[in-house]
Amino acid sequence: MGLMEKLSLKGRTGIVTGGGQGLGRAFCQGFAEMGANVVVAEINEETGNRAAAELSALGGKSVFVRTDATKRKDLDSAVKAALAIDGRVDFMMNNAGVTDWKEAENMSEGDWRKLMAINLDAVLYGCQAVFEVMKKQGKGSIINTASMSGHIVNIPQCQAGYNVSKAAVMHLTKSLAVEWAQYGIRVNSISPGYMNGPMAGKFFDDPKIGPVWRGMTPMRRPGEPEELAGAATLLASDASSFTTGSDYVVDGGFTCV
Ligand SMILES: NC(=O)c1ccc[n+]([C@@H]2O[C@H](COP(=O)([O-])OP(=O)(O)OC[C@H]3O[C@@H](n4cnc5c(N)ncnc54)[C@H](O)[C@@H]3O)[C@@H](O)[C@H]2O)c1
Repeated sequence: MGLMEKLSLKGRTGIVTGGGQGLGRAFCQGFAEMGANVVVAEINEETGNRAAAELSALGGKSVFVRTDATKRKDLDSAVKAALAIDGRVDFMMNNAGVTDWKEAENMSEGDWRKLMAINLDAVLYGCQAVFEVMKKQGKGSIINTASMSGHIVNIPQCQAGYNVSKAAVMHLTKSLAVEWAQYGIRVNSISPGYMNGPMAGKFFDDPKIGPVWRGMTPMRRPGEPEELAGAATLLASDASSFTTGSDYVVDGGFTCV
């Protein structure tokens, strides 16, 4: 099989949590452009439905399944919807996540639990939800959205909980990669830097924050969400068949300096 064929996702089926907007929407777009069928597993019905309709226009079969990624039964429904397309789940992208800027001393028990439930627990549940299917297939690719915040501590904002959740996602990724390599299941993460999406983009115009973030990024700009899609499609595809337990940093050079 040539490299072009290995990179293709034609006929493959995958799931993206939080695929309705932002980075998740861009990941869905990349997968669909490479030929995949995509299940948009999103909590927001409006953006989820819109994304699935737009993705279907690209040729594959894409469906929306209303999913709270912190709920295992919702994730099981997303897996069922993927299986209904062509009897397979080739890739799973655990992407849904939230931020919470707060000084550590002011974080309540509830703040901490909410952050961990979405950013960390949901990643484990998403991996567990596809495990049996991928094991039976003898093959599967799981991609978890981590962050450069799992590598470094961002400033000037305080976000200890977020940073910890993303560092944990990376180590969960490595742990599952080791446990599940024997079943042909690869598990990798992507660590974006500051991206020009709904979560972080607006802060580049904030006079207190924008200059700090720009100044710390060697490329001096936020990334565009679609600039992440190449990394995700590579990890989902057979072109990365010997890659597991790795974290793919896409941050304009931020973590180098
Ligand atoms: N934007 C950045 O600069 C940046 C940088 C590094 C990492 N990330 C990570 O990328 C991922 C996506 O972030 P984004 O910037 O696109 O954020 P976003 O807020 O624009 O999008 C997140 C999506 O997830 C959905 N979602 C939230 N909770 C959910 C749940 N419980 N179940 C299902 N869906 C849920 C939201 O409805 C939304 O569509 C997150 O994990 C985030 O931590 C973002």
